[in-house]
Amino acid sequence: MTNTPKAILFDLDGVLTDTSEYHYRAWKRLADEEGIPFTREENDAHLRGVGRRDSLLYLLHGRQVSEEKMLEMMDRKNRYYNESIKQMTPAELVSGGHELLAEIRAAGIKSAVASASKNCRIVLDLLGITKYFDGIADGNSVVNSKPAPDIFVFAAGLVGVSTPDCLGVEDADAGVEAIKTAGMRALGIGPRERFHRADFVLPDMVNKHLQDLLKS
Ligand code: BG6
Ligand code: MG
Repeated sequence: MTNTPKAILFDLDGVLTDTSEYHYRAWKRLADEEGIPFTREENDAHLRGVGRRDSLLYLLHGRQVSEEKMLEMMDRKNRYYNESIKQMTPAELVSGGHELLAEIRAAGIKSAVASASKNCRIVLDLLGITKYFDGIADGNSVVNSKPAPDIFVFAAGLVGVSTPDCLGVEDADAGVEAIKTAGMRALGIGPRERFHRADFVLPDMVNKHLQDLLKS
């Protein structure tokens, strides 16, 4: 593929906004209530980009609980998360985000969201950026979560672009793995050592222009 993709597929949490603190606080409250030790460092190292059920499984560290109790715990964590994101405003969009998304549209490149979160649409609305996307793939769209390629393949289909013509942008290594398995070019956001298969890496998304996303 050339350096200019026909579509750019963005992960949401940790790429367009930093919701990981909200996710952490919600898991931490649940863990405290259940008497399970859980630290911010563990959250960063093990829960980034990881879906709700897999996050809970990590938290449980092999403790056996019934399916009913697991559902209750996931629901409780989600209530805490929803309570905290209520206060989110467009100011929590990454700086320069509006300009970047508008620039992508002006260049005739499609854009889509490929997020594992079932709260994706709420967060996009709170940030005021739903209008920029030609497609939204979220935690309700596919069964197999990242690192499976499904969500990125689904997002590519939503915008009608073949997978080799897509660029995926991710802050989680599992997400980069998903992008590469989908046959796309992958941009990792974060420290270089976090990523195994990224084609290129940027330390953050602050004030980035289209050209910054296309370097490799
Ligand atoms: C990912 C987040 O985008 O979505 C994870 O990085 C989160 O932290 C996952 O667990 C699932 O989100 P939700 O909102 O459906 O619980
Ligand atoms: Mg992410």
